[in-house]
Amino acid sequence: MAILVTGGLGYIGSHTVVELLNNNFEVVIVDDLSNSEKFILKNIENITGRKPVFYPFDLKRRELLTQVFDAHSIDGCINFAASKAVGESQIKPVDYYENNLFSLINILQEFKERGLSNFIFSSSCTVYGQADTMPIDENTPLKMPESVYGKTKQMGEEILADFAKAYQRKICLLRYFNPIGAHPSFKIGELPMGIPNNLVPYVMQTAAGIREKLNVWGNDYPTPDGTAIRDYIYVVDLAKAHVAALQKLMQDTADGAVIDIYNLGTGKGSSVLEVIKAFEVANNVEVPYQICERREGDITIAYANVDKAERELGWKSETSLEESLKTVWEWQKYLNARNI
Ligand code: UFG
Repeated sequence: MAILVTGGLGYIGSHTVVELLNNNFEVVIVDDLSNSEKFILKNIENITGRKPVFYPFDLKRRELLTQVFDAHSIDGCINFAASKAVGESQIKPVDYYENNLFSLINILQEFKERGLSNFIFSSSCTVYGQADTMPIDENTPLKMPESVYGKTKQMGEEILADFAKAYQRKICLLRYFNPIGAHPSFKIGELPMGIPNNLVPYVMQTAAGIREKLNVWGNDYPTPDGTAIRDYIYVVDLAKAHVAALQKLMQDTADGAVIDIYNLGTGKGSSVLEVIKAFEVANNVEVPYQICERREGDITIAYANVDKAERELGWKSETSLEESLKTVWEWQKYLNARNI
């Protein structure tokens, strides 16, 4: 059983590769290292005692992708490879559409031509925009995301649904809420690339003294403490959901299209100030912060209803916010020790 994992050295990709290897899947990684590092591959081997096949190239290069499909008997794909910086996507829209959609279409061409099925797509809760009611379940109406990044996720979902219907294939769209944390070995985690955009990496670097102060983007939201609320899910729990979703697709032997959609979160919302406090308490460190204006494009509140994933995948998140935040700090220590 060889599973193609694109972006398999990235943050969620690397954690999912570990879970796949632990579940005895063969893994073929394609990753162009644009937002990842080669040492992650070594560390995956170190954690699992197994060696995934690795190809370093850009998925837009169809001829190289064809060679991978020729060389391996691929039974499914988990597609993580994508550019993901929301702000950058507004400045470089054409690059984002090209990168995120051409690569997807190239893989689907191979799948179409070779009669392959079992495709899992990394989507995001951004496809719901600011939902009118909480928690957000899979039937919550979609809204066109504000960011180009978000639009590539929504377009990707539509392309995959059309693919499944037209060619009678099985696909799964996983809508992540806010992934955080690092593997308990502290050998893989979210790698800092420049100034972090996301809350938890910024908190981590502020606690470590790399950043002077965390900017809290707005305390005038209609929430109990005025700061925005999100659903922070531990990355290893999230990775395990991919294996469960893949196993479900593979076990489904009925003819016809399958389009599975799952929200992946904890079901619990936490405010920005609650995350800061939880990090300080969990790790006994201080996180200096200042309140700033709201960040453009941010929504007030998003947390998931995770009943469907629990019912159909037998999966639910197991790790508390505090436990997840402890792994974040241990990961920062690992990075410090190696001058990364
Ligand atoms: N925040 C701060 N200071 C920071 C960074 C973030 O106060 O330095 C706040 C944000 O304003 C927001 C919350 O922390 O209220 C979470 O922000 P993140 O950037 O960590 O996460 P987002 O929910 O904004 O974005 C995430 C993913 C995106 C995805 C989006 C969909 O990172 O890829 O969810 O809602 F598009």
